Amino acid sequence: MSDSNYHVPVLAEQVCRYLITDEKGVYLDGTLGGGGHAEQILKKLDAEALYIGLDQDPEALTFSKKRLARFKNVVFYHGVFTEMEAAMQLANVETLTGVLLDLGISSYQVDQEARGFTFRSDVPLDMRMDPSRQQLTAGDVLNHYDYRELIRIFRQYGEEARAACIARQIVKQRKTTPIVSSGQLLKLIDRCVGGKHLKKSYARIFQALRIEVNQELELLSSALNLAVSKLKKGGRLVVISYHSLEDRIVKNFLREQENPCICPPELPECICGRQPTMKALKPKLIRPDEQEVKKNPRARSAKMRVGEKL
Ligand SMILES: C[S@@+](CC[C@H](N)C(=O)[O-])C[C@H]1O[C@@H](n2cnc3c(N)ncnc32)[C@H](O)[C@@H]1O
Repeated sequence: MSDSNYHVPVLAEQVCRYLITDEKGVYLDGTLGGGGHAEQILKKLDAEALYIGLDQDPEALTFSKKRLARFKNVVFYHGVFTEMEAAMQLANVETLTGVLLDLGISSYQVDQEARGFTFRSDVPLDMRMDPSRQQLTAGDVLNHYDYRELIRIFRQYGEEARAACIARQIVKQRKTTPIVSSGQLLKLIDRCVGGKHLKKSYARIFQALRIEVNQELELLSSALNLAVSKLKKGGRLVVISYHSLEDRIVKNFLREQENPCICPPELPECICGRQPTMKALKPKLIRPDEQEVKKNPRARSAKMRVGEKL
């Protein structure tokens, strides 16, 4: 498979521009994927620099190891990005010059039908990013979570207005037949949602299941805190997200790091003593331009934010 068939890196030029502050620095890529960003960044780094590439998907690591084989300064690590401390220990480093998180899934993962991330064909409901370590699948969620839990994840992670109706259909259906394929799930959603909103509801329910199966939001919040604690002064945290729930977490995180004071506003001066740890670089929100979206439609929802360690 060609490198661009695996995944086209999003906002690649901007990632390099904002992330690299020292050509001999130590960089951690928490979402190595097909190594697209990594390759662009490594081309700009000195041979003395170190690049730690981490991904939880074993297939992504196999692919990117081949793609990046010509670079001798890469350390690969299989695990979730909240294991960044262990990856740093393996690479024998204590601080980082930059951290990149390009969230979500790669085009390759979406296109592999057996992984169950797509609703565009009838696939098994899996959605685990690391089938070698994770047990819980999307099918398990649908067949075993109780009615209230299903409503919660559809509302909280999918922002789906018809969450209760869809959950009710699921609970009714599974009493007679387990729900194992995306085709079955789509038919249940069809019973609750009308015409022009249907595709959006499919996408919302699939997003909710993927977030639940992979604990995506919890991992993101922990990784942001870890990254700040590992960055050296002037080091950059670059995060690209693809839906509003992730972007909200990143935006609020940077805001709190920039202004951590928790004193009541009526106090004339700060007494809590909390000091800022990061500043959000401007522009605060970086989006792909029309040309990039035309070439790579999967970039259309991307939102990039950058923080600098103080
Ligand atoms: C959008 S792709 C990254 C693409 C990559 N930047 C490139 O240019 O090829 C996201 C990747 O992050 C991985 N991933 C998502 N969440 C993760 C997590 N919590 N820990 C480690 N890897 C994760 C996925 O397995 C996927 O390979």
